[in-house]
Amino acid sequence: MSEEVGDDFDLVVIGSGPGGYVCAIRAAQLGLRVACVDKRGSHGGTCLNIGCIPSKALLHASEVFAEAAHAGDMGIQLGKPKLDLPAMMTYKENGITGNTQGIDFLFKKNKVEALHGSAMIVASGKIEVSLLAGGTRTLNTKNIVIATGSESTPLQGVEIDEKLVVTSTGALEFDAVPKHLLIVGAGIIGLELGSVWARLGAEVTVVEFLDRITPGVDEEVAKQFQRILQKQGFKFLLGKKVTEVKPLKASVKVTIEPAQSEGEAETLSVDKVLVSIGRRPYTEGLGLESVGVQLDVAGRIETNGFKTNVDGIYAIGDVISGPMLAHKAEDEGIAVAEMLAGKSGHVNYDVIPGVIYTAPEVAWVGLNEEELTQKGVDYRIGKFPFMANGRAKVNHTTDGFVKILADTKTDRILGVHIVGPEAGNMIAEAAVAMEFGGSAEDLARTCHAHPTLTEAVKEAALAVEDRAIHM
Ligand code: FAD
Ligand code: NAI
Repeated sequence: MSEEVGDDFDLVVIGSGPGGYVCAIRAAQLGLRVACVDKRGSHGGTCLNIGCIPSKALLHASEVFAEAAHAGDMGIQLGKPKLDLPAMMTYKENGITGNTQGIDFLFKKNKVEALHGSAMIVASGKIEVSLLAGGTRTLNTKNIVIATGSESTPLQGVEIDEKLVVTSTGALEFDAVPKHLLIVGAGIIGLELGSVWARLGAEVTVVEFLDRITPGVDEEVAKQFQRILQKQGFKFLLGKKVTEVKPLKASVKVTIEPAQSEGEAETLSVDKVLVSIGRRPYTEGLGLESVGVQLDVAGRIETNGFKTNVDGIYAIGDVISGPMLAHKAEDEGIAVAEMLAGKSGHVNYDVIPGVIYTAPEVAWVGLNEEELTQKGVDYRIGKFPFMANGRAKVNHTTDGFVKILADTKTDRILGVHIVGPEAGNMIAEAAVAMEFGGSAEDLARTCHAHPTLTEAVKEAALAVEDRAIHM
């Protein structure tokens, strides 16, 4: 049965992840008639259903579990904490539904018509939705925003069953703590989810193609981060590649070889394998070929100011170029909604913070030392260790440092890099300072409350001119 709705919508957004739902809400706020379609049974996309939110729920719960084991250090005698994994998974699920239901509420509040079904663009301005509940619905619209996100990049020759050999989705749902978890890829997913299972008792081995972890992160920060993770029990096999993954009855045999040169292969027998070697744009079933929307060599939708090559079709979020981050997708959603409502939408790609939510966290904004050197920019470094921060000392969270990179001539902040407690929250002040074109001196002269971890940011700013007080 097909139901055709008249020339009803100013905008139909395909995908209700952080890019899509935020775009739909902002456009509705600005008076556009909007529908948002997602093929999942719940809104919120990868982020709320199988990404940011469930991973942060497990990171939080597992961190509390790990900390509880050391509560005795603070005079709190709890005994040995006992894990109830099904209850922890229920806690995670409640976090997901709490958030996805929030989107339903926001859609209703803003009069966004929310649909569950697979959308296919049949012509510019015409979308056919195969409804999850059965039947199809045809939507006519002035504009389309594609926000269909991304999916896990497969590792050639390795079959994912989401039980023994998993992507992040399976690693958020293990029904028992693996004895030995092998992770392919020392990127953000591998290290966040590796932290979850390591804290709950798994032995974690990470195989990384490159000779370093977390490519893209400032090298000095990455080195320190690696040392900290090793202290937590992570084992890294750098400069190595996985050449075979053979699931057996209840274990997996993994063959590992040097990444570049010919060399001896080693085999490991592990309980689970997590493949986390990146994510790729998702455009399957959208009908892009038939309407002629162009993709780039990496399979991303090509855009210029969010416009595709087809009039009236726009794209945002993971499915276009740029970092695959929820807040980047959200800001693009707002920008394109404002453009469609006749305003001037804008995203500053130079100031998009990144955070790895491990313990300690890693956070950065702007350029790192390698990037500045490559660009031939003269910069000064101000660094301050958490070891010298009073609050970090009393909390026993002294691992890490803040590093500020400022232009030698103008003192303008070019990049801020933190490995340490609460780094993800602290990077916000650096982002604001950078948005205002601030200098290291601006940060240094801003009064920071005592005793807070943020004083380490102020001290690093002072250190740019070699005048840190507590070091
Ligand atoms: P998505 O959130 O991927 O949403 C796209 C939606 O489109 C999906 O729901 C999909 O069902 C729907 N869709 C696809 N095709 C169709 C179609 N034809 N019809 C209808 N609907 C369709 N980022 C962060 O910033 N912070 C984090 O802490 C973080 N943690 C993460 C943890 C994990 C484990 C993973 C996997 C990712 C994480 N990310 C994180 C990345 C973040 O999830 C993505 O950057 C973000 O979700 C991208 O948003 P999006 O709107 O572009 O797409
Ligand atoms: P990633 O790009 O962060 O890391 C992938 C790692 O795998 C890299 O170190 C890469 O060198 C390595 N690699 C690639 N091919 C390999 C191979 N064949 N063998 C061994 N190593 C290989 O990708 P990841 O961790 O899968 O995450 C995907 C994306 O999801 C992130 O880049 C990020 O955009 C997003 N994300 C963001 C989070 C956050 O903001 N906290 C959390 C989780 C995901």
